[in-house]
Amino acid sequence: MFVLGTRPEVIKIAPIIKALEKCDKFLFVICAMAQHREMMDTALEVFNIKPDYDADLMKSGQTLTDITVRVLSKMESILLKEKPDLVLVQGDTSTGMAAALAAFYQKIQVAHIEAGLRSGNIYSPYPEEMNRKIISNLSTFHFAPTKSNADNLLASGVKRENIIITGNTVIDALHMVITNDYIFPDEVLNKIDYTKKIILLTAHRREYWGESMKGAFKAIRDIIIENPDTELIFPVHLNPNVGDAAKEIFSQVERVHLISPLDYRSFANLMNKVYLILTDSGGIQEEAPSLGKPVIVIRNETERNEAVEAGTVKLAGVDYKNVYAITKELLTNVNSYSDMAKSVNPYGDGKSSQRIVDFLSSHFI
Ligand code: UD1
Ligand code: UDP
Repeated sequence: MFVLGTRPEVIKIAPIIKALEKCDKFLFVICAMAQHREMMDTALEVFNIKPDYDADLMKSGQTLTDITVRVLSKMESILLKEKPDLVLVQGDTSTGMAAALAAFYQKIQVAHIEAGLRSGNIYSPYPEEMNRKIISNLSTFHFAPTKSNADNLLASGVKRENIIITGNTVIDALHMVITNDYIFPDEVLNKIDYTKKIILLTAHRREYWGESMKGAFKAIRDIIIENPDTELIFPVHLNPNVGDAAKEIFSQVERVHLISPLDYRSFANLMNKVYLILTDSGGIQEEAPSLGKPVIVIRNETERNEAVEAGTVKLAGVDYKNVYAITKELLTNVNSYSDMAKSVNPYGDGKSSQRIVDFLSSHFI
């Protein structure tokens, strides 16, 4: 049984579902919690996945307690009916954490996809760092993207034989949607001149809502205003905390495109065309290195250190001065830019899903 609720869970679980569809050894059930409504649906559509259950949980302004309680309760009834042999959850969302707990309450084994990431700070990312620690405790099988993720799990007492290093399935997803001569369904994106220095921005992290997020946005706004050869594309997350800050800082600023969240195929191909990416997203830090795109991370720490060590990701914090200085450096210093714009694959070769399916086949069949 796969449980998913948000955009990134769909993107990272989809390639495993596609690999399982080609293998006739398993029966599987897909449970969509819809912690995200529109953003989950858009991602499901790209991969043509139709869930068996849709709990339709999203409420505007939902709290962490809302999500946790509702997923826990909904999953109890689904698990009692379906009685799966294994529940697979992905990443660090509250959907994943509550679904893993619900499975544990029914004494059903849990497998964790994207296991072992740690920032070392339970309040950043919040609540994700604690969610993934809880999921690790509830899981029997741990699909770790990298060796360093596996080491984190070993250090916390997980048995070596239950850790499988797979790479990250997001790279499999990326390979499924990137094409060289991609034409966007949205004309605004087709009309942009990609020979200019186009900056792509995304942001949503809960711990930076408010003044921190606005400080980083102001730095990016000032860069755009001061550099006529730049444009900003900002697909704004549907969380109103993000939308309100984005409108306040970027409305009426020339060469800024505030747009709705993009479907995954459009977004991935857009990443492939732009000059530079600024983000606080986890998934984008994993995808961009394999496209050879420099990423400035607007967060104070990251659990994706492999990309920082490989040199394609730079941690800027959220402070105006740092975000401004690092972005300016990459726009004006050709050497700094080319040092970062190299294609590396710390998160895998696009075959992670097959490794997961192979493990499941060898273990359960
Ligand atoms: C959630 C996850 C976060 C993940 C992120 C990916 C938790 C606690 N947070 O954060 O780990 O990185 O998704 O994007 O699990 N909304 C819509 N439509 C949508 C999606 C969101 O309107 O399709 C609005 C709703 O008002 C909703 C709000 O955004 O209440 C917040 O959504 P929520 O899932 O609680 O938090 P995110 O910040 O999206
Ligand atoms: N993404 C997308 N459309 C967008 C912005 C992002 O499809 O408009 C994809 C992105 O490529 C990545 C995933 O969504 O695979 C990241 O989601 P998000 O940033 O919401 O969550 P996180 O990865 O931080 O948990």
